[in-house]
Amino acid sequence: MTVEPASPLVDELARLWAEYDLDTLTSDAAQYLSAGTATDWGLSAPVDAAIPPISLGSGIPDPDHLPREELVAAMQRALGAVDDGPLRYGGAVGFEPLRMALAERYTRDRGMEVSSAHFTLTNGSAGAIDLVCSAFLSPGDVVIAEAPTFSGSLRTFRGHQADVVTVSMDHLGMHTEDLEATVERLKGQGRRIKFIYTIANFHNPMGAAMSLARREHLLRIAAKHGILILDDDAYGDIYFGEAAPRALSALSGGHGVITAGTFSKMIATGLRVGWIHADPAIIDRCTRMRFEMGNSPLLHRMLCEYMRDGALDHHLERVRHLYAEKLDILARALREHCEPYLSFKKPAGGFFLWVTLHEGLRADVLQAAGLEEGVSFPLGYAFFPNRVDPTGEHIRLAFSWTSKDDLVEAARRLGRACERAAEQLKRANPK
Ligand SMILES: Cc1ncc(COP(=O)(O)O)c(C=O)c1O
Repeated sequence: MTVEPASPLVDELARLWAEYDLDTLTSDAAQYLSAGTATDWGLSAPVDAAIPPISLGSGIPDPDHLPREELVAAMQRALGAVDDGPLRYGGAVGFEPLRMALAERYTRDRGMEVSSAHFTLTNGSAGAIDLVCSAFLSPGDVVIAEAPTFSGSLRTFRGHQADVVTVSMDHLGMHTEDLEATVERLKGQGRRIKFIYTIANFHNPMGAAMSLARREHLLRIAAKHGILILDDDAYGDIYFGEAAPRALSALSGGHGVITAGTFSKMIATGLRVGWIHADPAIIDRCTRMRFEMGNSPLLHRMLCEYMRDGALDHHLERVRHLYAEKLDILARALREHCEPYLSFKKPAGGFFLWVTLHEGLRADVLQAAGLEEGVSFPLGYAFFPNRVDPTGEHIRLAFSWTSKDDLVEAARRLGRACERAAEQLKRANPK
């Protein structure tokens, strides 16, 4: 087809539209997400680096261990169905047998009796969190979150015009004493707190698994004040030795806890299949706020086929060993090449190392030096709601996606970047 020359109508419309400011039509929420911050993940702007950087920024599965063949076979079986089920609308809650398969896994792994009615399928866990926000947040409501926390969820909360109030955390998870004081302070001010967002298992970015004592304390505080807990469990199945302490949803007997789950980190982020797990009354409130006619029935069926006969368990066994090995490789290389400039605590699961810088090094200076040496990573500030890392001394290193050889080389380059940043510091502050 040939492209028609612009018609007088198009010219007229172009002139008229040129006079409009799109922001006069933009929703309050979209304006609230001011330009620039919406896609700021703490990475540097693209630069023309002399050496192509090795990225330690991607918290996604290893590309060489995606179960491609098994997924192709599962897709073939799904498409081979005698009816047209995989290729027509599937309803808002998602494919019943996949929700059933999830219920069976939760019952087996978490020691809780749940059914398919406790699940709705979503567009990844990011979609699950967005849907929970749609169901429970009004503009100005408060969400309490750990600091630091996953930057993507901070963006979602901002998009729903919530105020995010943070509580501190360490390697045993959220400081629940701090949580209690924060809840009481906010309640005293007449604020409406809707939920407490936590990443209890192998936290992004800190790697922490919340201790059992803090889990129990958190559940008591939330129930006492009638505040829901939203447990973002993207990494719970990626553990290296023992699993994290018992899930908040299991400890609570299902009361007041919403869990966001996903196949993204277990299998592949491109699937875009996740779920909300909660009491059926909560699932019902979430389903009311779905307007996109559900997610792909085809993918739901493919995943069901894939999970049959234990393929997911088998895959998880393999990748848990792989990520544990990659973490060991990176940790050893960092100790060899980057001491005394940084320290970290090795996590027991997940994809991330949260690194604290020493010797006066600042994260932004190290990031710039890293790019010159050929290694890239996000800065800590992206994981705080006000976009300020209180000390300016944190970076996050992901070890899941990068190859083993590149992890060693990245640490070597980071070591040189540390030296470079330290030199710069010395020149700026001569004795
Ligand atoms: C803590 C956490 N929650 C949610 C997500 C979003 O994952 P999904 O692909 O399931 O939407 C991520 C992705 O990095 C994450 O780290």
